[in-house]
Amino acid sequence: MPVISFASSKGGAGKTTSAIILATELAQGTDIVLIDADPAGRLTRWSRLAPLPPGIEVVTSQGERSIQDEISAARARATFVLIDLEGSASRLTSFAVSESDLVIVPTGDEQQDADEAIETLAQIAMEGRARRRDIPAAVLFARTNAAVKSKLEKHINSQLRGATRVFETELHRRTAFSSLHNMGGGLRQLDPSEVNGIDKAIANAQAFASEAIDMLEEVHHAQVA
Ligand SMILES: Nc1ncnc2c1ncn2[C@@H]1O[C@H](COP(=O)(O)OP(=O)(O)OP(=O)(O)O)[C@@H](O)[C@H]1O
Ligand SMILES: [Mg+2]
Repeated sequence: MPVISFASSKGGAGKTTSAIILATELAQGTDIVLIDADPAGRLTRWSRLAPLPPGIEVVTSQGERSIQDEISAARARATFVLIDLEGSASRLTSFAVSESDLVIVPTGDEQQDADEAIETLAQIAMEGRARRRDIPAAVLFARTNAAVKSKLEKHINSQLRGATRVFETELHRRTAFSSLHNMGGGLRQLDPSEVNGIDKAIANAQAFASEAIDMLEEVHHAQVA
């Protein structure tokens, strides 16, 4: 079953948050294993804050010696395997990336973010060359403003869209998304009296999840073609 990793050489790009959002959305209809492959353990921390939504299991990776076994065991029991990686290159990251059907690279929309995203894509491509296979990757704009974009933001957006595969959907900067790290669980477990904009966040998350499924199909067809 497909493996999706979240990678970026830049810390704080939105990997863990985007992984939680995609996992809790996909778990509405199927079984997900989320692997926490970041020694900082933010995903594991999230998983302990509240009961996990049905359909989600979180596995804390034991490190580079175990990751390949953890991924194949997860593949055998879940429809989708999502891996949250640390924000720097490591053997653990490269093993996980090389096992992935799709690597999602979250990024902001400032020039430095775009440069970091391009560097991460280059590292993924290098990993692919070492393994003699193309590792599909796509940039996801995350933590961007929902309001109208500035000229600079538009420029960076089109620069990346011209250079690589990019998700049409952006995961905007939303309190409902950051609240997941305080409250645990998914967007549907958040309390509307405590958190604003849950409906818009759910619509945003749904659009992201359906595009992720389309993208998996697209890269699969591109590979068998
Ligand atoms: N779409 C979003 N809306 C609001 N806040 C967000 C969003 N994405 C991420 N954040 C916030 O930004 C911070 C960093 O996000 P996150 O932990 O997901 O990044 P990361 O890439 O996993 O970082 P690290 O490299 O340190 O693991 C968190 O506090 C999170 O709550
Ligand atoms: Mg993280």
